[in-house]
Amino acid sequence: MTQLHMQLPGKDHSYEIRIERGLLSRCGELIKEACPGRRRAAIITDSNVAPLYADQVETSLQQAGFQVKTVVFPAGEASKNLSTLESLYDGLLSPVPFSLTRGDLVITLGGGVTGDMGGFAAGSLLRGVPFIQIPTTLLAQVDSSVGGKVAIDLKQGKNLAGMFYQPSLVIIDPNTLDTLPDRVFLDGLGEVIKYGLIWTPELLELLEQHPDRQDMAPYMERILLLSCDCKRQVVEQDEHDTGLRQILNFGHTLGHAYEKLGHYETYMHGEAVCCGMVSILKIGEQQGITPPGTADRLLRLLAALGLPGKAEKVPEKELLATLSFDKKGSGETITPVFCDRVGSVVLHKMPKAQFAEWVRQLEGQA
Ligand code: NAD
Ligand code: GLY
Repeated sequence: MTQLHMQLPGKDHSYEIRIERGLLSRCGELIKEACPGRRRAAIITDSNVAPLYADQVETSLQQAGFQVKTVVFPAGEASKNLSTLESLYDGLLSPVPFSLTRGDLVITLGGGVTGDMGGFAAGSLLRGVPFIQIPTTLLAQVDSSVGGKVAIDLKQGKNLAGMFYQPSLVIIDPNTLDTLPDRVFLDGLGEVIKYGLIWTPELLELLEQHPDRQDMAPYMERILLLSCDCKRQVVEQDEHDTGLRQILNFGHTLGHAYEKLGHYETYMHGEAVCCGMVSILKIGEQQGITPPGTADRLLRLLAALGLPGKAEKVPEKELLATLSFDKKGSGETITPVFCDRVGSVVLHKMPKAQFAEWVRQLEGQA
């Protein structure tokens, strides 16, 4: 089994990230080992994942001696809101078969929506119940399940109510990726490519050599390991996102603008980030920060994988609105992330107006 250790400051804060095919059927014993003394577990999962994997997880937990209950919500980003959160609290506290206490466990089984919202439910209910992440999408396995950001969306925007609440264990079974629709699988590769550009060039090379989903399968555990290890190293150095962790935002500033412009329907998150990474590489090349040819290299990879690389122009009004609402921006400045060579990035604090001007130059609008 491949295992990474997330070492964070503070008592009870560190945890293992375990990666291996078939782990789902052994999750009970792993959870028992990571959380000794706990005997009851509530699984939070969505309506697509429940029929695929809830039985396996329930059985494994029962075999390890846990009493189990499962709370299911309707799949999809549209569910990641206050009213579904309330229904999760209801399910967790319902007396049948047991009402959750702080001595129990929450297990999130599903994609990023389940992990984010289930983690937020765990972190807020009863002032915090320990939780385990069992991510089942590629995006959740390489990104959202690691690092402790949990949240729900508000009507004002995505992920606006949230906190840092670290899981006690992350269990990654690459076999669960087999049931993902192609588009959802590819979407997760967006974040893998990001790690390749900002930290681990080997990831980029692996995808360049095996752009077909079937050919990539034998390398999946390595891809998951390298991706989680990149995130682990960054989060260990900056758990609360005050400095280095912002490099994980590479491609996201413009990516968010593209996502929003398409009303969250044209592009999935990873697809929009791919377009955002191409744009920021091109801007970097124009400004002499990024080596020439880097954007073309990424465009070739995206084309081979079947991911988009070019988004529409962002109209002035939307661009300024995106920059002013960027959670990572403050006042008049923004800190976009530029790639100064493959596997390395620089944070470039600058006035928002100047960044907007660079975007306009890229789009030929100046
Ligand atoms: P998701 O959870 O909605 O999953 C995508 C779809 O795949 C859903 O329909 C789901 O039911 C289905 N699914 C999940 N696992 C499956 C499987 N194994 N087989 C078949 N279908 C399966 O979305 P996502 O793309 O996993 O995650 C997106 C969310 O993650 C967003 O809300 C985003 O804000 C969040 N996110 C959080 C972080 C973080 O650091 N916390 C980072 C990146 C993204
Ligand atoms: N997904 C970016 C982060 O965890 O910081």
